[in-house]
Amino acid sequence: MSSESTGELGEPAVRAAEVAEPGAVTIVVPTFNESENVAELLRRITESVPSRLPCEVVFVDDSTDDTPDVIHRAAQDCPFPVTVLHREEPEGGLGGAVVEGIKAAGCDWVVVMDGDLQHPPSLVPELVAAGERTPAALVVASRYTRGGSRAGLAGGYRVAVSRAATWLTKSLFPRRLHGISDPMSGFFAVRRRSVAPETLRPLGYKILLELAVRGRPNRVAEVPFVFQDRHAGESKSTAAEGRRFLRHLVGLRTSSPAARMVAFGLIGASGFVPNLLGLYVLTALGLHYVPAEIAANQLGVAWNFLLVERLLFHDRRAHRRWWDRAGRFALLANADLVLRIPLIALFVHRLGMGTLSATAVALVTTFVLRFVGTEALVYLP
Ligand code: GDD
Ligand code: MN
Repeated sequence: MSSESTGELGEPAVRAAEVAEPGAVTIVVPTFNESENVAELLRRITESVPSRLPCEVVFVDDSTDDTPDVIHRAAQDCPFPVTVLHREEPEGGLGGAVVEGIKAAGCDWVVVMDGDLQHPPSLVPELVAAGERTPAALVVASRYTRGGSRAGLAGGYRVAVSRAATWLTKSLFPRRLHGISDPMSGFFAVRRRSVAPETLRPLGYKILLELAVRGRPNRVAEVPFVFQDRHAGESKSTAAEGRRFLRHLVGLRTSSPAARMVAFGLIGASGFVPNLLGLYVLTALGLHYVPAEIAANQLGVAWNFLLVERLLFHDRRAHRRWWDRAGRFALLANADLVLRIPLIALFVHRLGMGTLSATAVALVTTFVLRFVGTEALVYLP
């Protein structure tokens, strides 16, 4: 990462953290090719923040265009320090950039906002004031509270997606997101000392979600805001970003082994669909039901493997090659089946259990063994 600082006009460049003041704010702005927006953003910050609150601005930039140069030029006219951290190897996308910015922040408060002017800079002092007043560790600028709106969310499709994602997310984390009407917002203030950046695992756009769920702030406040239209250019969000969001949700929800086991079980249950479909097709083609069962079962195993790889253990795959993981996974899945019958027999004949309860206990036992085996032998932590 290269970092450069630009101080006030005529002054030597200063490192952001050295000019920090208590009660002041570091505005963190993630940027990806925003050369048409950053000068106007700095102009509007200059207009509405420093007269009410001492500030510095830290851009964390992953651009491939001339955004850093434009920022440096525009910073000449700013009465506050402006820092550009340009990342050569962007990790974690937007969220990763924000975490880098929080690490570099030198003020008591950090306000995170987009670089495309969808978030009004005039609200920055208000967010900090709300945090001081409450007092709260996290203040969310919300589109979905009284007085807020999503005017800049173009098109019914995006509004529907945003609403559905918000609903899903809130139902997955009812306790942690209590009191947050807009957990998807990219505009918020957080007390610097309440954040432990090394505990965060940002993945894409929803960094507020990461802070609210994994960060466990003890008190949260909200301020309404009107989501504006983009000043220039286009949203950088893609379909890949949607898939990343899904993985982020699963990762957050399955941070404990117990939650991971439940997810593993749900994925396993969903495998019945391809399994039964396969069985239907193969027997319809005239195959004897025994080989059909065996083949169809492998279809279910493959389905489970794909989902487990994509969702549950996505960032725990690096230790083994994919065919090694697939082989081990299939071995464990089939061992589960092969083990079940002798286990039931053992429970019935040695322990005198009824067939039904023996089957239930055997199912649970092999499932737990399979989960523990998959965690330990296929995906190392
Ligand atoms: N450094 C860095 N790296 N910045 C990025 C990256 C990245 O990979 N991707 C996007 N950005 C920057 C953009 O340059 C912009 O300043 C800001 O992050 C938001 O990106 P947009 O592409 O404009 O996002 P959006 O308008 O679709 O989504 C915004 O609103 C959503 C609510 O509807 C974001 O704030 C989302 O977090 C928010 O959920
Ligand atoms: Mn935007």
